[in-house]
Amino acid sequence: MAEHDDHPAYPVGLRLNGRRVVVVGGGQVAQRRLPALIAAGADITLVSPSATASVEAMADTGEIRWERRRYQDGDLADTWYALVASSDAAANDAASAEAERTRTWCVRSDDAEAATAWTPATGRSEGITIAVLTTTSQGRDPRHSAAVRDAIVEGLRDGTLAAPHHRTRAPGVALVGGGPGDPDLITVRGRRLLAEADVVIADRLGPRDLLDELPPHVEVIDAAKIPYGRYMAQEAINQALIDHVKAGKSVVRLKGGDPFVFGRGMEEAQALAAEGIACTVVPGISSSISVPGAAGIPVTHRGVAHEFTVVSGHVAPDDPRSLVDWEALARLRGTLVLLMAVDKIGAIARALITHGKSPDTPVALVQEGTTAAQRRVDATLATVGERVVAEEVRPPAVIVIGDVVGVVTDPAGLLEG
Ligand SMILES: C[S@@+](CC[C@H](N)C(=O)[O-])C[C@H]1O[C@@H](n2cnc3c(N)ncnc32)[C@H](O)[C@@H]1O
Repeated sequence: MAEHDDHPAYPVGLRLNGRRVVVVGGGQVAQRRLPALIAAGADITLVSPSATASVEAMADTGEIRWERRRYQDGDLADTWYALVASSDAAANDAASAEAERTRTWCVRSDDAEAATAWTPATGRSEGITIAVLTTTSQGRDPRHSAAVRDAIVEGLRDGTLAAPHHRTRAPGVALVGGGPGDPDLITVRGRRLLAEADVVIADRLGPRDLLDELPPHVEVIDAAKIPYGRYMAQEAINQALIDHVKAGKSVVRLKGGDPFVFGRGMEEAQALAAEGIACTVVPGISSSISVPGAAGIPVTHRGVAHEFTVVSGHVAPDDPRSLVDWEALARLRGTLVLLMAVDKIGAIARALITHGKSPDTPVALVQEGTTAAQRRVDATLATVGERVVAEEVRPPAVIVIGDVVGVVTDPAGLLEG
């Protein structure tokens, strides 16, 4: 076994695909390390009399082979890499001694000094693995390594730390779902792409606060203000996307919620495709689920609603352009979530009642959900048309119809969006 050693560890990336790896001990350490070994394609044998439920599940699904017994000499035969992490100190010593004898790189969770390899704190971002090691066994401080790793990964993900080639992303378009409005509710990928963009074309809805954080050189365009000229508004937006990419820019089309939930995202993707321009689609948290949730309304609840249906209410039920079967919706027992329906809610409520839905069905309107201005107004199908007017509910609002509205009461204010 190595004597006290002040030399720095030599970092390396092991390519373990198809290679035998032995793990001694099936406890929490194995549970934490096994997923990365499995992801690396290693041929893993676990030697341990017991295992945590998660480790056992990995054996059940065939991701690892589990020998339910104590370690015995010879277990490391033909092994490339060993992880020794059992609660049995004698077994750990014996396995580590065998590893030394057989020249197998060996990590020991209980004795960093005796180990011949250390596991770095690792993280991944966009095809890059970040591995952080403290230099010597004396200075080993896994928490510090993990904190440095977190800072690097977070910085890369949100774009505050960008490698030079990252700063100048290749020209292209990303259709980014920005979530319902709270700037914390955009995805990590969306936020990083935003930080790397040259041009951002943004809708009124979505996390507009994030636009203030962009560097001054980024051109921010309000989609609602793009002049149409001879186009329709959507065509003008499509054309703006195309023009900026063709000018060599990296463009983010920032949309509210999810790009494909009443977001016309696919029309934009198709317009780009017609010009031979690929686009990256980044899903977003849709207001249809998150806004009710932020107001304490679950769109499903066990024993109450087994389905939820998201409907656009931008045209009235009797409008010949309507594609919605209100009669069928009135027969559903589950939750109806209406978007873009503030103006037409009176007519919609009447149609649902006419087709058999109870006038007492609870309704909630949640305006500007997840933002500082969020407000909730409760009604029933019979009263909602009047309540919207009396309470001056304005778009954007999500309207929830169904028993889930009343199911969760939160008098103590314990639920926070
Ligand atoms: C054109 S749709 C876009 C929906 C979006 N793609 C999504 O997935 O949330 C706009 C409608 O979404 C709803 N909406 C979006 N954000 C909202 C918010 N923060 N609060 C309430 N309603 C919101 C409103 O019904 C609004 O009229």
